Amino acid sequence: MARRKLIAGNWKMNGLRADGTALAADVAKRLKAVGQARYDMLVCPPFTLVPLVLDAVKGSGVDVGGQDCHMQMKGAHTGDTSAAMLKDLGCSHVIVGHSERRTNHGETDGIVKAKAEAALAAGLVAIVCIGETLEERDAGKTLEINRRQLLGSLPDGANAANTVVAYEPVWAIGTGRTATPEQAQEVHAMIRAELVGKLGQEIADGLRVLYGGSMNPKNAKELLALPDIDGGLIGGAALKADDFFAVAEGSPA
Ligand code: 13P
Repeated sequence: MARRKLIAGNWKMNGLRADGTALAADVAKRLKAVGQARYDMLVCPPFTLVPLVLDAVKGSGVDVGGQDCHMQMKGAHTGDTSAAMLKDLGCSHVIVGHSERRTNHGETDGIVKAKAEAALAAGLVAIVCIGETLEERDAGKTLEINRRQLLGSLPDGANAANTVVAYEPVWAIGTGRTATPEQAQEVHAMIRAELVGKLGQEIADGLRVLYGGSMNPKNAKELLALPDIDGGLIGGAALKADDFFAVAEGSPA
């Protein structure tokens, strides 16, 4: 089954109003110029920029997502943002369980799963991130770690429309070191097989699995051509519209 590629930019903690708005407007203008794009496009700016970015991309087809959400919809959680709040602004997606959240904020698979379920309950698409560290890879535990994170983090009620999985090897994030096509495909094929086991063939066939980790215009084409890679979750290269579009345009027809 053909899955439409999703080209997603994770801006992380980058961008003030002026440059964030300019970048969003540039991305919107370029997608409009492409016309009938063969891929979906999403940007996930920091929370402070979400309303401005939504405004800047209006009518362009560029979707906007959050980078994290709380597991509850409201309450006494100082500094947090709920999935309902993101939805209320106009977001369509939210990233959950990014390795930077897992590492810097102690997020476990159980927490990530609860956040993903909050996203679904709010009507957002959850982008559930998993990935092994270099130590885990060197210890031969890559498949085991990713399987455990996947099965522990997937929301109940996941289907191809409400959930996306992103495989982001921690050692490839922000390092300029990308997984080889063989390394990426091995993990993506395992993810697909586990999705078949958990959700059934039909849902697994339609559910998109993204690769993330130093994806750039030079390596994207080869990665996006692999059978089980359905798009990219792009950090650094998403901060330059030229590079972001070069990645997107490198995706196979
Ligand atoms: P880089 O593309 O900067 O390696 O970041 C990847 C990432 O973490 C996207 O979520």
